[in-house]
Amino acid sequence: MKLFQPLQINSMELSNRIVLTAMVTRLSGEDGYVNKDIRDRYIRFAKGEAGLIVVEAMAVHTAKSGPLLRLCDDSFIPGLRDMAKAVHDCSPSKIVPQIIHFLKIARSGWRQKVQDLTKVEIDQIVINYGDAARRAREAGFDGVELHMAHAYTLSSFLSQRNNRNDAYGRSLENRMRLMSEVIVRCREMVGKDFPIGVRFDGEECIKNGYTVMDSRQIALRMAQLGIDYISISAGGKFEDAILKAGEPLYPYTGYSGDRCMPGDTYPDGANVYIAEGIKSFINSKGYYTPIVTTGKIATPELAESILEEGKADMIGMARALLADPDWPKKVRDGRSDHLIRCIYGNVCKSLDENFRKVVCTLWPKGSLQAPESDDKVAPIWPQSAELKAKIEVGSVRLTWNAASDNEGVYGYEIYRAEGDKDFEKWTSVKRLGHWDTGVVGGERYRYYVRAYDFAGNRSEPSNSVEVAMPFPV
Ligand SMILES: Cc1cc2nc3c(=O)[nH]c(=O)nc-3n(C[C@H](O)[C@H](O)[C@H](O)COP(=O)(O)O)c2cc1C
Ligand code: SF4
Repeated sequence: MKLFQPLQINSMELSNRIVLTAMVTRLSGEDGYVNKDIRDRYIRFAKGEAGLIVVEAMAVHTAKSGPLLRLCDDSFIPGLRDMAKAVHDCSPSKIVPQIIHFLKIARSGWRQKVQDLTKVEIDQIVINYGDAARRAREAGFDGVELHMAHAYTLSSFLSQRNNRNDAYGRSLENRMRLMSEVIVRCREMVGKDFPIGVRFDGEECIKNGYTVMDSRQIALRMAQLGIDYISISAGGKFEDAILKAGEPLYPYTGYSGDRCMPGDTYPDGANVYIAEGIKSFINSKGYYTPIVTTGKIATPELAESILEEGKADMIGMARALLADPDWPKKVRDGRSDHLIRCIYGNVCKSLDENFRKVVCTLWPKGSLQAPESDDKVAPIWPQSAELKAKIEVGSVRLTWNAASDNEGVYGYEIYRAEGDKDFEKWTSVKRLGHWDTGVVGGERYRYYVRAYDFAGNRSEPSNSVEVAMPFPV
């Protein structure tokens, strides 16, 4: 598979094309130092052998925030060095930190805007990024990723809504100025051979925000400035965020937030077209900087087809790897049928929003890390599964009997077929029942259920059931 072909990025060789894109864990304290839980989180990811692990955003400056890692002072280096080493010791995965600068926000809804910054403050941002990049190298990371996406400072400068009246605003060239200064400074600080990646929005997904028409030019400039890989995200802006009284504005609550972390109602690979547009543009200009695409890419088939069709060079996955950090290893070893599939209900996102420790709803209750198991014994149905389907209030209600397992049943996977089509994996649940609210009148549906354990072993399929939804009028 192309997914498992190695990729050279400057001095770093990735063993495969799978990238764990940055995901804030809220496992650190407000002090921003690495602690055991954070270290364990990245060791757990590393055991799954993603080619590149991007560690959650860490601040380049001292501004107050909730629980967030930091790289704004040399005192943060030892903890990060220890974590990077622990990852290298247990895995072929490469590891880079994502470094971020953000502006001030208040619970009242007030937020500092790029228009408020003085030239001295802008120059300080450039210095902060350079120093943090230097620390990333000193901490033994394999590279560094500059966060220029979503609602944060560098993204807000790139934004089409940046209407500063000086050399840093309005025109595309001016909006790219700070980004360029930061890239040049970071390169000076880390040297030529240290990989520098950038993450930025390929589309802002807000009214009057930029689209691929601008982002392809921005990516081209990054490539011209010697950036080693470009990771394309989307949305996640303050401009359309929904203010909750007394709470800090969370930039993933509006439409642009949905586009950033597409939920279960979005199609798979919802943002691939953006990366595709950027990649074809920079390639047409003679630049082949590897492009990462992300956004609801969960199946090996989709990931492989994106690479085969040349839409991107690497596949970014955040939630799919939170749900199952062993995804890369399982797919590489031909065990895709053991994957624990993310259901994109975004419980992890709402934990992040509320500054609570980010875990996956599929994990066993109370766990801070994804379970690990090499067990080979599949769950069984001690009595028959007796899957039943009943039409209730315009939905289908499914119920079945409990399965059992030598280690423990982790969950149940529900498969659904519409009319005469083939069965598809529909969702996963932990309890013994599910309401399918996505059915429509005049259509027939068939279902079956399989239990799975911590290693992803599946039970035999349950009996299958069929319901015909009456046409409503
Ligand atoms: C809980 C959570 C925290 C995230 N934190 C970051 C972050 O620190 N930096 C970043 O660039 N993206 C962050 N993201 C966005 C992800 O990297 C990714 O782009 C997004 O979830 C869509 O990809 P997916 O469908 O593979 O999850 C976060 C996403 C989630 C769910
Ligand atoms: S909490 Fe939900 S959306 Fe997040 S990783 Fe787990 S299954 Fe996926």
